[in-house]
Amino acid sequence: MSKSKHTIITEDPSLAAKVLKEGGIVLFPTETVYGLGADSRNLSSCLEIYKIKNRPADNPLIVHLGNPALIPDIGEVTEAAKILIRQCMPGPLSLVLKKKDKSVFSTGLTTIAVRVPSHPKVLEMLSYFGGPVSAPSANLSGQPSITRLDDAISEFDGQVDLILKGAEPEIGLESTVVDFSVSPPKLLRPGYFGWEELQKYVPDLENYSDLKEGETPSSPGRKYRHYAPKAKVIFTENQNPDRESAAIGIGLIRGWKFALDLRNNSEYMKNLYSFFRDCDRLRISKIYCFPPANASGKEAILNRILKAQES
Ligand code: TXA
Ligand code: MG
Repeated sequence: MSKSKHTIITEDPSLAAKVLKEGGIVLFPTETVYGLGADSRNLSSCLEIYKIKNRPADNPLIVHLGNPALIPDIGEVTEAAKILIRQCMPGPLSLVLKKKDKSVFSTGLTTIAVRVPSHPKVLEMLSYFGGPVSAPSANLSGQPSITRLDDAISEFDGQVDLILKGAEPEIGLESTVVDFSVSPPKLLRPGYFGWEELQKYVPDLENYSDLKEGETPSSPGRKYRHYAPKAKVIFTENQNPDRESAAIGIGLIRGWKFALDLRNNSEYMKNLYSFFRDCDRLRISKIYCFPPANASGKEAILNRILKAQES
């Protein structure tokens, strides 16, 4: 992709909103990962995101809103969805709903994913903008999502109209996605909120199951290569350090070429993607990932490592 645009880099959320209104593409931080956003009601801007990311055309985008009160305008909110909206929003959760607003971009689906991020800077931008913003994670399709401003700039400077600067993502993995367009509701992607936590609020929530051969993916994004660095990712419990490879985990022993020893699952989530990116920069060919702690966040970390390993 050619780097032909002049990219404004700013901390000003009102300028970001103005660029969105003019049909521009804005890269912004959220509490999960960086996003690449466009006005959901501007078809050509939304399609430009697919070009920039090299994203398969049938993989839909999440609509970002500045306030949970706006959700019922976009999709049909079920009683169970209402509970999660009350408990978890704004925050790292996306809901798939039956689509109501036909003017909002979707890939021809009758459903729409909505999310109200909690990151203050993006909330300000959304409130200046006033409408829905469609945004996937800001990364080339298949690669790990971006969690640091430096990576956002080196990957997208010259390709987007504006990069909004703000606090770096606290969480580091993408939002939890729950499908309320089906009954019983289904967890499609674990994130900061995992199945067990959500079951407290939605007792009949079905856990996502990894696709078996021949099964139709309920979330189009699930059939594609995901979250993967160039290096080979190996998930294992046995630590046999080697001087050529990298390792990430909790309680690592010494002897790796490059390693990140973490204290808990929050640190694991926050650092996993940036570690993958650092390993690629160092041209490391194998990354060993060790199990997360048996605590909140485990499901999401394992999900991303196993997807990266499959690729
Ligand atoms: O944390 C996040 O969710 C970030 C930030 C930027 O908000 N966004 C993000 O977007 O991760 P993306 O496009 O990388 O992942 C969205 C996932 C994809 O797997 C997509 O297939 C699924 O949500 N999705 C979107 N709309 C859907 C729909 N109508 N039905 C089922 N799955 C949907
Ligand atoms: Mg993504």
